[in-house]
Amino acid sequence: MRTQVGIIGAGPSGLVLSHLLYLHGIDSVILEARSQAYVEARMRAGVLDSDVSALFREIGVGERMMKEGLPQEQMEIRFLGKRRFINWRELAGGRVNMVYGQQEVVKDFIHRRQQDNGKLFFEAQALRIRDLDGRPVIEYIHEGQEKELKCDLIAACDGYHGIGRQTIPADKLEAYELNYSFAWLGIVAQAKPSSKWLVTSAHERGYAMHSMRSPSISRNYLQIPLTDTVDDWSDERIWQELQTRLETNADWKLEEGKILEKTRFDIRSFVCHTMQYKKMFLAGDAAHMVPPTGGRGLNQAIADVCILADGIAEYFRKSSIEYLESYTQLCLQRVWHAQQFTWKMTSVLQRLDWDNKNAYHRQVQLAQLEYLTSNRAAATSLAECYAGTPLQTSFLPADRPRYPQIC
Ligand code: APR
Ligand code: PHB
Repeated sequence: MRTQVGIIGAGPSGLVLSHLLYLHGIDSVILEARSQAYVEARMRAGVLDSDVSALFREIGVGERMMKEGLPQEQMEIRFLGKRRFINWRELAGGRVNMVYGQQEVVKDFIHRRQQDNGKLFFEAQALRIRDLDGRPVIEYIHEGQEKELKCDLIAACDGYHGIGRQTIPADKLEAYELNYSFAWLGIVAQAKPSSKWLVTSAHERGYAMHSMRSPSISRNYLQIPLTDTVDDWSDERIWQELQTRLETNADWKLEEGKILEKTRFDIRSFVCHTMQYKKMFLAGDAAHMVPPTGGRGLNQAIADVCILADGIAEYFRKSSIEYLESYTQLCLQRVWHAQQFTWKMTSVLQRLDWDNKNAYHRQVQLAQLEYLTSNRAAATSLAECYAGTPLQTSFLPADRPRYPQIC
């Protein structure tokens, strides 16, 4: 099989890239190791920046999101039982985030690609990448047979454990990683959301978040010790802990319900500076990851593929490599901005001292929370970062409103 762009992975990065390339008139093939049912059901994060939801509307994949997505004008931060609000409509130039599950984004883009006769192969696992200097080839296995996909360029949208990054020789790879001493438990429950906006709580027992997926489904998170497994968390213990950590002085009650899913996941900050290696480009989780605290992961992935799609279009249309060669530099500036914000949110909201040896950190955290949620300049900075950096893309009008820069 032959195509212009071989894409590994049908997560948000690979799917959105393939659709943007289609709109640019460029042929691509997606190879996805898992089944369609598996990727459509995989529960992940779910907050879209206003620019990302605007992009989805603009490129014709926003219809269901506009009906079912839950717009968010603000978030709530709780500590010591206090309720504080960060309103981005007010503080971040009228921007509104949208809660819309990542698996819904994935479903919408898969269906759109299939409607457009896009070449999308499930249960097709990329095994090796070769000839990156000349005519790149992805060797893969599909329907029990080893096959080859010949391409002009490769986009490795294959997540943190993917083979794209592993193909880069160690002496050419520059990467930065920070692992944390805790994990998260993600919980989906058949329970009416108890709030119209996201509620986060920096409790002394650990972080908790109350989010939502629909008017009848809530999505909650608990920070847990690294050594804990899902089996350590019975349904009863989960509700008890959420109630404790989300407790507030005001009249608020967390609705409980049947737990439909609980997943434990590690938290990691990671940036690979080698986002291009010869004719291969890394995008999304393959290149960088953040803890979910700042709602940046999915939005960063979309930001990468916007830049990549425009670069690839210029490469084929004008036979110019210039924009494509600046891919890494354009992405990394945004990526580190998201890393610094997430790092700040993580240290301000999460419990970093499970053995309670560092009570000093807790006191600094409380002072930071007080300042961030009561000082207008500090709250504006938080709101701007949470609302997200505007996308760099030819698919949105260049003259759309942006938040003010001082230089
Ligand atoms: N061959 C084919 N497919 C592969 C291979 C392989 N060798 N290795 C990995 N994949 C597939 C995975 O099965 C997965 O579906 O690549 C896909 C990568 O998708 P994601 O992990 O969702 O990564 P990405 O598309 O970059 O999306 C980033 O996901 O983890 C969240 O918070 C993160 O929201 C962010 C988003
Ligand atoms: C979610 O709804 O899953 C969610 C929301 C905000 C975050 C992380 C996850 O920062």
